[in-house]
Amino acid sequence: MQRKQAPAANDHRTVLPHTISRRRMLATSAGALVGASIAARSESATTNTNVGDMQPHVNFALAGKSALVTGAARGIGRAICVALASGGADVMGLDICAVAASNLVYPPAKPEDLEQTGKLVTEQKRRWIGVKGDIRDMATLKSAVERAVKEFGKLDIAVANAAIQIYGPLAEMPDENWTNVIDVNLNGTANTLRAVIPHMLSRKFGRIVIIASSQGRHGFKNGSAYSASKWGVIGLMKSAAWELGKDGITVNCVEPGLTDTPLTRNPGRWKEALKEGGKEPKENPSEQEVMAARLPQSVMGIPWMQPDEVAPAVVFLCTDAANRVSGATYDATAGDSVKITA
Ligand SMILES: NC(=O)c1ccc[n+]([C@@H]2O[C@H](COP(=O)([O-])OP(=O)(O)OC[C@H]3O[C@@H](n4cnc5c(N)ncnc54)[C@H](O)[C@@H]3O)[C@@H](O)[C@H]2O)c1
Repeated sequence: MQRKQAPAANDHRTVLPHTISRRRMLATSAGALVGASIAARSESATTNTNVGDMQPHVNFALAGKSALVTGAARGIGRAICVALASGGADVMGLDICAVAASNLVYPPAKPEDLEQTGKLVTEQKRRWIGVKGDIRDMATLKSAVERAVKEFGKLDIAVANAAIQIYGPLAEMPDENWTNVIDVNLNGTANTLRAVIPHMLSRKFGRIVIIASSQGRHGFKNGSAYSASKWGVIGLMKSAAWELGKDGITVNCVEPGLTDTPLTRNPGRWKEALKEGGKEPKENPSEQEVMAARLPQSVMGIPWMQPDEVAPAVVFLCTDAANRVSGATYDATAGDSVKITA
């Protein structure tokens, strides 16, 4: 049987009828919602054969924008601050700069770490405000937003990045481990959104990005609290995107795979990596042992990513080029996404 030739993408004669029927569908099924601007465009649909053509310029710049990033002292948060600044944004970085919870097996960020992020941002010739604060504390977040608005003039972007990780079997973990992980990762992230949304609503503009995790897209043995919290922020993102879309505010998640930061470069996380790789767990594995366990599972042939390989996805979602991207989870996983079903 002869196969029907698919129309070429730039063949306007074949594309046009499809375009018209989609417009008719819009006019009938959503007539009440179709405003004057869409009506005006509909009128020209029969004569304009360039409908659907690519725009020659895509704006990836962030000049004139300002951003709040939580968990900014180090790791992925620092990389996001620097990447946003290199795109042209002024940045406020907020971090607890202290022990965030009991039973964390990795060292806390220090005030000097946050200062170092500030130095890197100002090297990009952008303004920087460093704030020491806890995302569990709504009053701290609200006053940080007020300060950003006062000093930068407005706040366009919020990146809810701060989080903690504690491993342990669900049935045996101390109660406080569950509570602390959910409290920082889920409640603290919701607080961050709730602190910035009123200002963004008042301007009918905003870009919100939540840092989720590939562990929020599948189960993880001994990682139930973290996995549940990251799964939870994806639900939070989708609901907020739905609520805020008509007010010009986009809300999305970026989901990193394993990335080399203090949260992961420690014997506790490396022990879990050995187990994931089917190896015998040991208390103090060497970097070589962990790499050897990771590499056979790696789609792109690397054991883990670097923070600055995650940040560009966040920057994209904050640009005008991403105006129509909302309610979505973007993966930056060095290919680990192939193991997630959808
Ligand atoms: N590193 C990875 O492999 C990986 C993978 C997937 C997702 N993530 C996510 O990326 C984000 C950044 O992680 P990271 O690896 O850079 O970790 P990190 O520990 O290096 O950095 C997290 C920062 O958040 C801060 N923080 C923690 N609790 C806070 C609180 N209550 N209030 C304010 N600040 C607080 C910490 O002080 C720290 O500076 C987190 O959301 C994490 O869950 C990381």
